[in-house]
Amino acid sequence: MPTTLPADPRVESLIPRMTLEEKAGQLGVFADMVRPFAPDVNPETNVRNATEVLEQVRAGRVGTLFNGVGAEAGREIQRVAVEESRLGIPVLLAADVIHGMRTVFPIPLGEAASFEPDLAERTARATAIEATAAGIHWTYAPAVDIARDQRWGRGAEGAGEDVYLGCRFAAARVRGFQGPDLRAHDSLLATAKHFVAYGAVSAGLDYNFVEIAEGTLRDVHLPPFKAAVDAGALAVMTAFNDINGIPASANHALLTGVLRGEWAFAGVVVSDYTADMELIAHGYAADERHATELAFSAGMDLSMQSGFYAAHLPALVESGRIPMEKLDAAVRRVLSLKAAIGLFDDPYRSLDPAREADASWREAHEALARDAARRSMVLLKNEGGLLPLRRDARIALIGPFARDLDNIEGCWTLFGDRSRYVSLEAGLRAALPDGGARLRVVDGCGLEAPLQGGIEAAVAAAREADVVVLAVGEPQRYSGEAQSRTQIVLPPAQQALAEAVAATGTPVVVLLRNGRALALQGAVRDAQAILVTWFLGSQTGHAVADVLFGDYGPSGRLPVSFPHDSGQQPYFYNHPRTGRPELPDMKEFKARWREHPHQALYPFGHGLTYGQVEYGPTTVESPAVAWDGEAVLRATVRNSGTRGVEEVVQLYVHDRVASRVRPVRELKGFAKLALQPGEAREVEFRLSRADLAFTRADGTQGAEPGWFDAWIAPSAVAGEPAAFELLPPQG
Ligand code: BGC
Repeated sequence: MPTTLPADPRVESLIPRMTLEEKAGQLGVFADMVRPFAPDVNPETNVRNATEVLEQVRAGRVGTLFNGVGAEAGREIQRVAVEESRLGIPVLLAADVIHGMRTVFPIPLGEAASFEPDLAERTARATAIEATAAGIHWTYAPAVDIARDQRWGRGAEGAGEDVYLGCRFAAARVRGFQGPDLRAHDSLLATAKHFVAYGAVSAGLDYNFVEIAEGTLRDVHLPPFKAAVDAGALAVMTAFNDINGIPASANHALLTGVLRGEWAFAGVVVSDYTADMELIAHGYAADERHATELAFSAGMDLSMQSGFYAAHLPALVESGRIPMEKLDAAVRRVLSLKAAIGLFDDPYRSLDPAREADASWREAHEALARDAARRSMVLLKNEGGLLPLRRDARIALIGPFARDLDNIEGCWTLFGDRSRYVSLEAGLRAALPDGGARLRVVDGCGLEAPLQGGIEAAVAAAREADVVVLAVGEPQRYSGEAQSRTQIVLPPAQQALAEAVAATGTPVVVLLRNGRALALQGAVRDAQAILVTWFLGSQTGHAVADVLFGDYGPSGRLPVSFPHDSGQQPYFYNHPRTGRPELPDMKEFKARWREHPHQALYPFGHGLTYGQVEYGPTTVESPAVAWDGEAVLRATVRNSGTRGVEEVVQLYVHDRVASRVRPVRELKGFAKLALQPGEAREVEFRLSRADLAFTRADGTQGAEPGWFDAWIAPSAVAGEPAAFELLPPQG
């Protein structure tokens, strides 16, 4: 159930005393230029200086500031708001704290590969502790956009291509940021963003248009927001894109109809950065005043950075274009939010320099970052059991990421403590005897350009080694906002390095650094072992060493499909069935590309362990499932290898005949199990008809009676199904 904002008498006594300008001021969100400001990552330059920002606060023209940091200066801003503004309303201090504050955790996409929502809850909690210690009340996270097109760069900020996984991580992150008590000094307000269908931008081009069927919107893109709201999120951020011609930031049907109406969302809706202003560029609003009216009337409470609400809302209310009650309702929501987190009781909440000194670095967070990083890696391939490596092997660590410290944190990290980042070289040396005296480290090439003599040095090191650890991938700035790609491949200089190193014949372990699924090619694709490491954060080097040397066995699974080729995008495992599926003995005039099958190279859910896990058949307790009953599915999973594992057991279903073409498979459950060598466990999942619901042909949501296939399997393409029939309602 959504969290409500309790009525507060202080809020009710304020509203009638506020001028129109003060009301509009509470709905304005501006860059915090008073405190040390995060690098300006946003498209419009921030023109106000610190003095001017404080003057605006004093005049009651600012309700929220964002992306500044620091408790001491935060107190000064709050003092001005509380003591020097006419009504003494405290400001909210917000920031983009996405996957860590000072301690940086893996990018959210990487963390989703852990298939451990609990882990995400713990890293979000640690993030909240550090962020609130630095004087931040409110984060613009989690991003809960479903990313089905890997060309889009912002998939790195979410949980991948799957709806169920996305919902589980969305809810976990909200719980982690906010904690059990909103008033606690370490509770960080969460924001589900970007509402909605931002991940569905055409051709994976950031900010592009979205044309989407109602069923896909409802079944794929809306559910993670619903999950976040139900988990207690009290803020939602609108998206930049339009949806079937109506910009998301002025979309009455979605902001008011779905969010407030269907879901009873009680929190605030904040625009993305200048999204109201961009209604003009979209050609949806004629001018500033029109844009303000459209956005506000659609249901956007807070306007970020454009200044449009301050400039135009008062006149729009005076002229009757916007009813005062509607303005008051939005003001009530933002003031109630401030009350709910305790700012009217203690405006200096989360602004304690002593706590800042104490909580911005914690050994426990460092350990959590290392654990989260190793749980996020995915072992795609391990020919001949090349991994784990022996510590007495002669290892050549080659590649532009080998010593690098500039591509550790991943996108949207504004406040990471770089002095604590652990490079691959440092991590490997720390794990090897004698500080890795026999480890050879060679860059081989730059991130994007060859290095003079680089390949020669790399080849020489490879020749002398027993094994090459090849650290290649995407530079950090290839993913994140505005980082769309047409070719989701390695930069050519790195591919050339990989080819030359592989040609030496020394076995190669590829350590892939990436903010999206990539189309692996040539020597990278054909390496003996491939470990996907995303961007792992502060503890990168130690975590990678843990997995390389087998101190921790890989347990992550792909939250996005790795295609054969860039041209397959958008490729996602849960695509609707085609009328002409490819069959093993029939390929002509079937759904396939000339070059590739309609499949992934490495499917969603895939990932190896250092053990040998076998799945028994999926069984169903009773093939006849009553309309109000449950399908009970079981399988026995056995580790027949010699090393302990953590196995991600996945449940998929397929609806055989329905009023709308259904996906080939859909994830409906998962469980991560520790299995000792020789250990077997029976895993059970239960499905009710709510789990089988979708947007039916008539537009209603629900399940349809009939036969379903279900797989308990190690990936989205593995296993043999069991079948059950959902019986129609009785009577
Ligand atoms: C991004 C948001 C972010 C906002 C504020 C925008 O450019 O799309 O995700 O929260 O800036 O920094």
